[in-house]
Amino acid sequence: MSHPPGPSTQSVHAGDSREKAYDSITTPIVQTATYTFRDTAALVQYMEERMFWDTPQREEYGRYGNPTVRAVEARLAALEGGDDAVLVASGMAAITGVLWVFLSAGSHLVMTGDCYRRTRDFVHGFLARFGVEVTVTPPADLDAVEAAIRPNTRLILSESPTNPFLRCLDLARLGEIGQRHGVRTAIDSTFATPINQRPLDHGVDLVIHSATKYLAGHNDVLAGAVIARGGLTVPVRQVQAVLGSVADPHAAFLVGRGLKTLALRVERQNANGLAVARYLEAHPKVRRVWYPGLPSHPEHAVAARQMAGFGGVVTFEIEGDGAAASRFVDALRLPYIGPSLGGVESLVEQVAIVSYFDAAPEKLAQLGISPSLIRLSCGVEDTADLLADLEQALAKL
Ligand SMILES: Cc1ncc(COP(=O)(O)O)c(C=O)c1O
Repeated sequence: MSHPPGPSTQSVHAGDSREKAYDSITTPIVQTATYTFRDTAALVQYMEERMFWDTPQREEYGRYGNPTVRAVEARLAALEGGDDAVLVASGMAAITGVLWVFLSAGSHLVMTGDCYRRTRDFVHGFLARFGVEVTVTPPADLDAVEAAIRPNTRLILSESPTNPFLRCLDLARLGEIGQRHGVRTAIDSTFATPINQRPLDHGVDLVIHSATKYLAGHNDVLAGAVIARGGLTVPVRQVQAVLGSVADPHAAFLVGRGLKTLALRVERQNANGLAVARYLEAHPKVRRVWYPGLPSHPEHAVAARQMAGFGGVVTFEIEGDGAAASRFVDALRLPYIGPSLGGVESLVEQVAIVSYFDAAPEKLAQLGISPSLIRLSCGVEDTADLLADLEQALAKL
């Protein structure tokens, strides 16, 4: 091709070999735990190769690699503009893998607030036990991030957009700060997908995804990914091979199949997200809406600069108490009630119940999560149907 392929073409074809086993059009699920060698000479040759190449030319054992997994990794690397990707068992395996690689006893992590609860649990509950120090800075505040950097800071980690308030970090400025201070930067880009933003293009070192969400896109598989340039995925792969948090071949197949419609799905989800956010913001029974595509969002300008679309998640507070919010959620007919986001089916959750049921009211207040805060992940349903559903549910309040 004379010009680089667009995101839809990449979603379908990137990283795929034209010639596949049995002339199959789909990448086969290579369902094996181990790989065999013709004779001892072939084994010795492989062992010698492995000593010199980061990625050997064949597989040895399922925890170190699998052809179905590698095909998905190649597509993800192409979509994010990386030179390699590591597909793992879940988004949390991707996040914890990056943290294990870049942090050790006595080192320091800067992490922005308003991020996935389990990421914070891991940092405060596990890494702290191993002598890693952490500073949590206010979401989207890069002055605070820079001020928090110390001589022993090794990593800056943020989501963008964040969960649940969809705060956005200026990625180019983050990349520049990291480079100037010699600190690695990592962005959990789960809410954006490579269709809406590509952090590596802005100078960020590592992109992390919960592939469970938009990338796989059908609420039917758990997976995670780390994508980078310049060999940074090599230690991540090594850590996964030791921890054993690798993606299994069938999960990889589902992610690969989901990826083929990524651009199409995200296009619809962007449209649904924006329409729903605008509708809710204009509704008298809605107190506040957080959506990066709305001018009222604190980082609207940053998001508009660095994102091609603003995603399918809309967070909002309705008038009234937690019970009113529950009545509204229960009145919705299209979205399912449950955790997660990014799939073809719309999902709705009252954040305080789904993600923070065990949290003290003071903790919730500190996080800004009121009982009437709702997170709606728009699926690929028709926009008019989603709006009509919201209308009828709000009318019941
Ligand atoms: C932003 C973000 N990162 C990571 C994760 C964890 O992903 P997984 O559930 O695939 O482990 C989630 C899950 O909700 C998330 O929202």
